[in-house]
Amino acid sequence: MDLPAGAPTADELWDAGLGRLSAEVRDHLLGGASDGCGPARNRAALEQVLFVPKVVGGARPPDLGTTFLGRRISAPFGTAPIGSVDLATPQAARAIVEVLARRGLAGFVGLLALEDLRTMAPLPESAVMLQLYLRGDDGWLHETVKLSEDKGFHGFCVTVDSREKAYRPRDRRNRYVKRDNLGKPPNLPDDPLAYDHQRAVDWQRLERLRAMTDRPLVLKGLLHTAEARRAVEVGFDGVYVSNHGGRNVGHTIATAEALAEIAQVVPEECAVVVDGGFRDAEDVLKARCLGADLVTFGRSHFLALAAGGAAGLEALFEALDEQMRLTMRLLGVESLAELTPDLVRIGPPWQTVHAHH
Ligand SMILES: Cc1cc2nc3c(=O)[nH]c(=O)nc-3n(C[C@H](O)[C@H](O)[C@H](O)COP(=O)(O)O)c2cc1C
Repeated sequence: MDLPAGAPTADELWDAGLGRLSAEVRDHLLGGASDGCGPARNRAALEQVLFVPKVVGGARPPDLGTTFLGRRISAPFGTAPIGSVDLATPQAARAIVEVLARRGLAGFVGLLALEDLRTMAPLPESAVMLQLYLRGDDGWLHETVKLSEDKGFHGFCVTVDSREKAYRPRDRRNRYVKRDNLGKPPNLPDDPLAYDHQRAVDWQRLERLRAMTDRPLVLKGLLHTAEARRAVEVGFDGVYVSNHGGRNVGHTIATAEALAEIAQVVPEECAVVVDGGFRDAEDVLKARCLGADLVTFGRSHFLALAAGGAAGLEALFEALDEQMRLTMRLLGVESLAELTPDLVRIGPPWQTVHAHH
């Protein structure tokens, strides 16, 4: 695969990736539930967050480093889990974990995208987390958790916003059946009723998962402050603010909005992750000001992989890194700790100007 020459921007990688996909995969990736406005609403909320820089501070080169769930990371951004990421490039999950580990980044890979855990090569030490769906009984879950621990995953997130397969009109129009292109994920049980376990998820089940592992555990798909509080009570180490990229319920609040509320109600030691419409380093900096520890990129990393495989993903992180350093300088901050709520303000509704967002 040929990447755009030079140092491509996140935007260029997005466009290059889109150019490599069939029309139906493009629809599957970009589409939302209902009228499809969810992704745009996530963007619109981020575009309303405006910086109020303190321009004279920050004379030293900025430090992007921080910690995430006990591990040192080189920058506060990474990948959101995408179960069908093999549609972007073959063996995508392997490429993702290797790039994340090499760059010292945290991120999530989806169980649905992962090669067979029993035969996979161990991971290098990293802050890479495995995203679980509860697609089996406790016996299956326990075995999956133990195998993943042995293979070196730092911890887990469990996604709870997907009790049913969502109503996505663009996929329905295309009569799109994802698994036709990908086959059965090797780490799911051979059980036609496996999805029923995901349908039945409740707090008791999450408590049982908590008891299965000492590794960091994050609950993904939260928008409501009451559920964020409950997650902490149940013993989760992190909450992951997400509306599944607008793909499950079309009209939810935007994640930038939910982030500010949730970050305020969870204790300091609880990690806050967010995704949904984040496209460049200014977006990451905004989220840090609003209380996020880690920002993850969904469609952007899929498209970077489609544009150039592992090299495409490296190029995305390189672009984010460079933009983040320059913008921190321009905002007058030298470290992530200086990104505080007073550096942003919610402005008036803003007309999205980027054609492809
Ligand atoms: C094609 C596609 C597949 C996804 N698959 C999963 C998945 O398997 N597990 C999961 O927790 N989230 C999944 N998500 C949601 C992403 O993790 C993330 O929440 C969302 O893409 C973030 O929004 P963004 O794409 O605007 O960055 C998927 C998203 C897309 C677009």
